[in-house]
Amino acid sequence: METIDCIKTRRSIRKYKDKVVPEGIINEIIECGQRAPSAHNTQPWAFVIVREKEKLEKLSKTHQWAPFVKDAQLCIVLCCTKTESVNKSAMHMSVACAAQNMLLAIHNFGLGSCWTYIHNLEDTSVEQKVRDILEIPKNVDVICMLPIGYPNQVRSEKEIKNRREVVHDGKW
Ligand SMILES: Cc1cc2nc3c(=O)[nH]c(=O)nc-3n(C[C@H](O)[C@H](O)[C@H](O)COP(=O)(O)O)c2cc1C
Repeated sequence: METIDCIKTRRSIRKYKDKVVPEGIINEIIECGQRAPSAHNTQPWAFVIVREKEKLEKLSKTHQWAPFVKDAQLCIVLCCTKTESVNKSAMHMSVACAAQNMLLAIHNFGLGSCWTYIHNLEDTSVEQKVRDILEIPKNVDVICMLPIGYPNQVRSEKEIKNRREVVHDGKW
């Protein structure tokens, strides 16, 4: 798929077919995450691939906006390993860059996904639940999860804000 088309047509997909995702594609999705920009090229990410139905079910129950995670073929949980850094927000933003690369790669392969939140500064309880399920160490932040599967829904083109609302030319 052409890059600009891929960016313009990606949507969040929350319904998945019961069809296996080839390992080669999963590897490519991870590599696309690893190719993202990161602050000082620290590459502060780590990825937990979850395939077991029982664990997918548990992840889907960690908060109210995650029920569809149980229906995915797999879920990649994105973590941030450089949390001792004074520049923790830059580390988190770097992991977000990896997530977006992966969302685009997923769409490129005809698959669907949806950023599903985990990290929340005001409430760390969801993050702790995910740490417990996946045995993630305390010093690693858990940012988000990307459930992946072949789409079982068709989404129309997204309405975006009017250019005049979001673009300031030369000054605010
Ligand atoms: C930081 C962030 C957190 C999100 N958390 C969730 C979530 O927990 N559950 C969910 O269903 N969608 C979540 N989303 C997906 C958004 O709802 C979705 O991106 C938005 O509605 C725009 O739709 P689109 O992705 O199809 O363009 C999240 C997206 C972002 C960027």
